[in-house]
Amino acid sequence: MCGIVGYIGKRQALPIGLAGLETLEYRGYDSAGFAICNPGRVTLVKQVGYVQQLKDKIENQNIAGNLCILHTRWATHGTPNEVNAHPHHDCAGRVYLVHNGIIENYKELKNYLGQRGHAFISETDTEVMPHLIEELLKDENDFKTALFNALKMIEGTYAFAIINKEDPHTLYAARLSSPLVIGVGNEENFLASDPSALIESTRKVIYLKDGEVAEMTKDSIVITDLDQRPTPLKVEQLEWTLEQAQKGNFPHFMLKEIFEGPEVVKAAIQGRLKPREHLVKLGGLELAQKRLNAMRRLIILACGTSYYAGLVGEYIFEEIAGIPTEVHFASEFRYREEPFEPGTVALAISQSGETADTLAALRKAKKAGLLTLGLVNVVGSTIARETDAGVYNHAGPEIGVASTKAFLSQLTTLILMALYVSKKRGAFHTALMQELMEIPKKIQSILDASEQIQQLAATYATHSNFLFLGRRYNYPVALEGALKLKEISYIHAEGYGAGEMKHGPIAMVGPDFPTIAVVPSNSVSDKMYSNIQEIKARRGPMIAVATEGDEHISSLADHVLYIPKTLEPLEPLLSIVPLQLFAYYMGTKRGYNVDRPRNLAKSVTVE
Ligand code: AGP
Ligand code: GLU
Repeated sequence: MCGIVGYIGKRQALPIGLAGLETLEYRGYDSAGFAICNPGRVTLVKQVGYVQQLKDKIENQNIAGNLCILHTRWATHGTPNEVNAHPHHDCAGRVYLVHNGIIENYKELKNYLGQRGHAFISETDTEVMPHLIEELLKDENDFKTALFNALKMIEGTYAFAIINKEDPHTLYAARLSSPLVIGVGNEENFLASDPSALIESTRKVIYLKDGEVAEMTKDSIVITDLDQRPTPLKVEQLEWTLEQAQKGNFPHFMLKEIFEGPEVVKAAIQGRLKPREHLVKLGGLELAQKRLNAMRRLIILACGTSYYAGLVGEYIFEEIAGIPTEVHFASEFRYREEPFEPGTVALAISQSGETADTLAALRKAKKAGLLTLGLVNVVGSTIARETDAGVYNHAGPEIGVASTKAFLSQLTTLILMALYVSKKRGAFHTALMQELMEIPKKIQSILDASEQIQQLAATYATHSNFLFLGRRYNYPVALEGALKLKEISYIHAEGYGAGEMKHGPIAMVGPDFPTIAVVPSNSVSDKMYSNIQEIKARRGPMIAVATEGDEHISSLADHVLYIPKTLEPLEPLLSIVPLQLFAYYMGTKRGYNVDRPRNLAKSVTVE
């Protein structure tokens, strides 16, 4: 994700653009920049950090102009620094653009352009685009034709805002998967990643659709498809407040991010999973290929939700790749005197990439000479920089303090990593790859039934204790579901291995002590049914997360939240979703600030 703003019109572009950019910082904030175009001249300013730091950089400078593109970055390729910040431009300094998304074939394009003399200054994927337009201009010498042909060569996702130094009256925009909305003004037109950047200036908007390209002047807007066939302008009236626009009409970032689940699973897979070729491509691991080939044991280091993702990873790496795996609370790993056998690899999982306990554990593993890998969401974060190799989640900024979409992204990426390192390749692996492609729409089907979960939360909002039970792949899901409920509703909730429940916790069970059992139809269902019956025999209220079509469960549980059938290693990607929603609705029902729960921080940078 990142924030894009564009302006073309009668007023000075920069103040309008910067104000709009600040409203988009929730979409990405590691660096920012703008390019403002006057006849024959473009002023380019970039800065690492927040938009405010960009504004500080140009304080007391009067940078005039009526055409401007601006960007606040959420890095996917290339450390967050000034060079990698957007806008990017071509060799001649004629084409300037900003980008939201991932150009999956950027390496091939970079080689192709490098062989033709193009010099690159950044590490980003984005930078290939202005150079590609420049290269195609050599044949066409018509900017629009070169632009359209370049767009057709891009594989991946994009929202582009583009200016041509030789035409200070035209702003171009193109969209494929990443959002872009046009603001319609009077002798001025606007562009933004979402309406929150437009609301101060106009409430008339046109949502660009995938495959569309817009050509905008201060008095005109023309939208076409990639073959330059015009498409009708559909102007809509915005009714949103600024805050609603940032949350995309969701009441809280947490709910918005839960509903981004399908999107983040797709983003984690994009450009990496090719089921037809039985191929998983993880460029960030290729750096350590030799030592990965010698891997004989994996230790996973993490905290909180990332730790629970690691627990799912334990089952995943052992079943998919046949690698003995153990997971440690990073805060405890530091006290272990574990003798490491040769071929042991450490994997640090961290959404923020800044968690102090995880960083300390990583440094201990590094000091012991282990190969260290990272599974991190924030590009360029400390943990990402200190590992020998790793994979980024590409989940976009997670604003809600409680981790939801990042957890799904971590699970998806762990499956890809296990498939990548697995020396085994059988029908099971192929089935997994194919089923993983189906997961986004299966998550969506659960989200579509969220109202039932909201009603269930209303029924249970006054309870003070919950027990969460699960087995095998769903044991960590029970732990994570309990953590979500604790974090968001401040209710005491315990996650437990269902098999362990009778070794003590069952003593707590009674009419006022509900249990949530995660019991998809799988290899351990029968044992889960027995646990449920043990709970019911003690009059404990029972909520079950079960597989669609399971006729047995409705006779056992008081309430059933159904999820689609999938392969067991992929079940956590589905079974956690009702629990995330349950925690959210319990917290809102109890009137708490679910985006900023008391006592918590988004990144725990203290030990
Ligand atoms: C999860 O909802 C919590 N916010 C917290 O447990 C978090 O998962 C933990 O602090 C680890 O953070 P990290 O993934 O950024 O390292
Ligand atoms: N992939 C581009 C980069 O890493 C754009 C990232 C974004 O969407 O912010 O710079």
